[in-house]
Amino acid sequence: MCSSFINHFIRNPGGVGAIVPLQGPVISEMIKDMKNRPKGTKWAILEVGAGFGNISESLLKLMSPEDTLDLVEIDSKCCAYLKQRFGNDPRVRVICSSILDWQPKQKYNLIVSTLPLNNFELNTVEAVFKHYLALSHTPSLCAYVEYMGLEKLKQTFSPKSQRSAIDKRRQYIRKLHERYLVEKNPVYCNFLPCHVYHLKLQNSSVA
Ligand SMILES: C[S@@+](CC[C@H](N)C(=O)[O-])C[C@H]1O[C@@H](n2cnc3c(N)ncnc32)[C@H](O)[C@@H]1O
Repeated sequence: MCSSFINHFIRNPGGVGAIVPLQGPVISEMIKDMKNRPKGTKWAILEVGAGFGNISESLLKLMSPEDTLDLVEIDSKCCAYLKQRFGNDPRVRVICSSILDWQPKQKYNLIVSTLPLNNFELNTVEAVFKHYLALSHTPSLCAYVEYMGLEKLKQTFSPKSQRSAIDKRRQYIRKLHERYLVEKNPVYCNFLPCHVYHLKLQNSSVA
């Protein structure tokens, strides 16, 4: 799977944002809300940027037969792989599209996102979180990940013209966190170390 992932990165470095898949400790941190939820609750789960399904597999292990999992992935090769890997599980749907184009009728209880937000323009990051709010039950939980220190490195080594764009994205994320952040947890045991953010999305009017 690692060599497929490297090819995936080579096909679209900006959209993938990592050369290897996320590893166990980050995955456990990202999906811990599954373990902590009240018994007997039925959840609709959305995974955004499912890649080759390493998080999906861990989610499925914690899901009950009544839960559902929608995997949204923009890359067609990953989608084909996801369909082959999980297509027989009635709880899973694979949606081969950008998350911004995904307009389901239902809302989700949990959104797990590994989109490389640091590589996106401010307007895309805003659109992504607005969309997550629109797709949420209120409240619903959202976990997303960011490599530690990457934004600072980019800020330091980018040309001046790009630095203000990075600043604006950070300001937007700061505001988002003021409103919705519940926890920010470091995970060092990953190539590369990450921060996992847990948001409680509770008002669909503003992001
Ligand atoms: C950092 S990789 C994460 C892959 C995998 N979830 C993991 O944990 O290793 C980000 C994934 O997001 C996908 N992606 C990028 N932009 C997307 C978009 N707008 N909508 C859906 N998926 C997207 C990429 O194709 C890539 O598979």
